Amino acid sequence: MLLHLLLFLALYTIFNHFVNKIRNLPPSPYPALPIVGHLYLFKKPLHRALSKISNRHGPVLLLHFGFRPVVAISSPSAIEECLTRNDAVLANRPRLLPGKHLGYNYTSLAWAPYGDHWRNLRRIASLQILSSSRLQNLSHIRHDEVRSLIRRFLRYENQTVEMKSMFFELTLNVMMRMIAGKRYYGENVAEVEEAKKFQEIVTATFRLGAVTNISDFLPVLKWVGGRSGYENSLIELQKTRDGFMQRLIDEYKEKASRGTVSGDKKKTMIEVLLGLQESEPEYYTDEIIKGIMVVLLAAGTDTSAGTMEWAMSLLLNHPEVLKKAQNEIDQVIGNDRLMDESDLAKLPYLNCVVNETLRMYPAGPLLVPHESSETCVVKGFRIPRGTMVLINIWAVQRDPKIWDEPTKFKPERFKDLEGTRDGFKFMPFGYGRRSCPGENLALRTVGLALGSLIQCFEWERLTQELVDMTEASGLTMPKAHALQAKCRPRPNMINILSQ
Ligand code: HEM
Repeated sequence: MLLHLLLFLALYTIFNHFVNKIRNLPPSPYPALPIVGHLYLFKKPLHRALSKISNRHGPVLLLHFGFRPVVAISSPSAIEECLTRNDAVLANRPRLLPGKHLGYNYTSLAWAPYGDHWRNLRRIASLQILSSSRLQNLSHIRHDEVRSLIRRFLRYENQTVEMKSMFFELTLNVMMRMIAGKRYYGENVAEVEEAKKFQEIVTATFRLGAVTNISDFLPVLKWVGGRSGYENSLIELQKTRDGFMQRLIDEYKEKASRGTVSGDKKKTMIEVLLGLQESEPEYYTDEIIKGIMVVLLAAGTDTSAGTMEWAMSLLLNHPEVLKKAQNEIDQVIGNDRLMDESDLAKLPYLNCVVNETLRMYPAGPLLVPHESSETCVVKGFRIPRGTMVLINIWAVQRDPKIWDEPTKFKPERFKDLEGTRDGFKFMPFGYGRRSCPGENLALRTVGLALGSLIQCFEWERLTQELVDMTEASGLTMPKAHALQAKCRPRPNMINILSQ
């Protein structure tokens, strides 16, 4: 029986191989089993499993995740073909359940298919909400929140602190103040009950976001079993989240009717969006506004917080790099004032530390999945319409043919690469139409928080042992073990910290 099965699989693989060749599809090195396709191959985290297969079988591979054809791309030149010549054709997103239920039926920025609606949202995000001038006008928020973070760490002097939750709360406060002028974590939280509700929503969003929903790949499960528990949870969460965001919008509408809105420069995102609603009410509905709010919150918080946690972990394992970054800050800023965002341009080594962290631990190791809206050609292979495309930047950013000692943390390697993408070898924020619109905000927040913690504190691991750098599975490449560390204020900073 087993022999028959093996024989069948061998013949099936050979047959598929020839079919792929005739149809000019990318190689598909392992047998795709009936129903599950290649899902049996994958151990988490997915970027590592795909990288292993690509190393053996080439940088453009065709796989089947259940019924879905998936192309995995993992060389700079193949990525370049995808995101330049084929960028428009590959600018769609696959329709997965979270996009339906949490992404307002695929109408929000991250989930919307490529087309006029997405282009419009993208224009608003880039020009109105995340533009350099808007970010500059709201820089006081990031400064306040980083000061508040420093005060929190001061309270933990020489005690064990869990870092990720501190960073996550920082980014959530920054984002919610930019969106709605409210902070829900830490000191001075005005509305305690509202903050509690928000915290519950955030916990549920990121818990469900981290789950891979198998019925997105095996619809047969849905036909047989109906709506899954996972889908019900998404619907329930969306109801609560939508109600919460609507109340924030309504508060602003009420304020506007009383004439108590902010001046132009300090406008929150809700105010900007309601301004657009006034001039085009049919298009800028409350639902569109809520879609933008939730996407920014989901895309702009855990990514930056995770990057800060990886960066601190790397620094704790490389005290000589930490010292060098500290020396740079001391020389450029001194110790009679705290660092601010405008200092970032004068701190090249700190920027190298951030870049090297994003090279080794990019928050989107496979970017966000793309999908082909038409058939296109990559590296001579045909990518049929409706194929999900996973761009494995993790594999490229750790490829020993491209990077010298890629598993080593060496910020100096970015000294000469600063400010360039260097031929698609380093692209933690993606490239092209669907690239990250929050890059500027992320780099400001991560740079300021990291630089400030380096400037103000001495940092130590809990034991002699190195910080464990194992990755867990999850969309934004979380650490398997939350970073814990100890800090104490630096003697030369005591004066300024006690003010
Ligand atoms: C998309 C990385 C922070 C908003 C993406 C993508 C990546 C990425 C790789 C997908 C690109 C693609 O599919 O080709 C990161 C990293 C961050 C970060 C590494 C922090 C270190 C932010 C922030 C915001 C943001 C702060 C905004 C507040 C978005 C949005 C998209 C996106 C809205 C979807 C764009 C679209 O589909 O058109 N990001 N991001 N991200 N990011 Fe970020």
